[in-house]
Amino acid sequence: MKGLILSGGKGTRLRPITHTSAKQLIPVANKPILFYGIEAMRFAGILEIGIIVGQTRNEIVEAVGSGERWGVQITYIDQPEPLGLAHAVKTACAFLKGDPFVMYLGDNLLKCGISHFVEEFQKSGAHAQILLAKVPNPQDFGVAQLSGDQVVRLVEKPKHPPSDLALVGVYMFDSHIFKAVEKLKPSARGELEITDAIQWLIDQGFEVSSHQVTGWWKDTGKREDLLEANRLACDALETHIDGDVDSESSIYFKVVIEKGAVVRRSKIRGPAIIGKDTLIEDAFIGPFTAIADQCDIRECEIEDSILLDHTVINQIAQRISGSVIGRHVRISHSKERPAAISLLLGENCHIDL
Ligand code: DAU
Repeated sequence: MKGLILSGGKGTRLRPITHTSAKQLIPVANKPILFYGIEAMRFAGILEIGIIVGQTRNEIVEAVGSGERWGVQITYIDQPEPLGLAHAVKTACAFLKGDPFVMYLGDNLLKCGISHFVEEFQKSGAHAQILLAKVPNPQDFGVAQLSGDQVVRLVEKPKHPPSDLALVGVYMFDSHIFKAVEKLKPSARGELEITDAIQWLIDQGFEVSSHQVTGWWKDTGKREDLLEANRLACDALETHIDGDVDSESSIYFKVVIEKGAVVRRSKIRGPAIIGKDTLIEDAFIGPFTAIADQCDIRECEIEDSILLDHTVINQIAQRISGSVIGRHVRISHSKERPAAISLLLGENCHIDL
């Protein structure tokens, strides 16, 4: 089987972070979300992987490379416009060459991986296989209606969901999907929907099997979901200290301190991860915090947050919580008068004081 990872699109809901970087490269527990998908495919024995790329192509190519480090072969497939998930399948036609494939949305994270589902699909003889998960907000997803075990209807982001079973962003298809995507018309939001393509398969009498995902699954499209994915991924960490922690610091629970990181006179309460060459001094780092490489964190308290690389946080009295902070951001205390908040912010920033 081949793999197809969708890493195009615009990531508008995660602006401003996605003004300057691809949403699939935002780190969760210090690893780009996209890498979890590649690893899941590799683990399932899928060695030929196509990655759909759009505007952020260069960044993705630079981060992922040839795939050698995972022992897989990556082919980049350009999608000129993000015209929908089914459009991405059409775009990947020449790469897929009619072979069965797993399609994995590059902003999804699945705890249990995909090996089991890939095996099931290969044994089943079904024409497509979808994964479902119960969610409290089905209106934000593709939603499935079942009759017994049978999928009878799929609707994309319905106002009145027929069930609480959301379509997870991992799909398995054989060559029939190519016929289906040819038949599609753009949806109300102007996209060629994979949900409609699967509905076409059902309507034509092709077998579409479904599995309910029991472990956690996250679509990291929004800030809250990203933080939740970070909590879940941090929770899966195991203590590993490669950096330098002085005797005046204390470390509790699951904490990873990467190579070259320095921790001085600080408390780190895991699950948490501190990236390479990051300095933590006179600080408290609380649970579910992932601080990326080469950050400089002094005299402050941070919990339940994601910090991207090269960020500086210095002498902040109030604890920082539930935050996603981009690259090269500087937050520092100023002694200047007036004692006002002084900001230099780009478009679409969110500040809750
Ligand atoms: O996460 C699961 C949900 O993913 C499903 O429940 C929905 O049925 C499905 O339509 C999809 O909904 P989203 O609105 O979350 O999809 P999004 O636009 O965020 O795109 C998902 C990934 O695919 C993301 O990594 C960007 C990429 N993409 C998206 C489009 C529209 C492409 O590579 N090309 C595209 O044209």
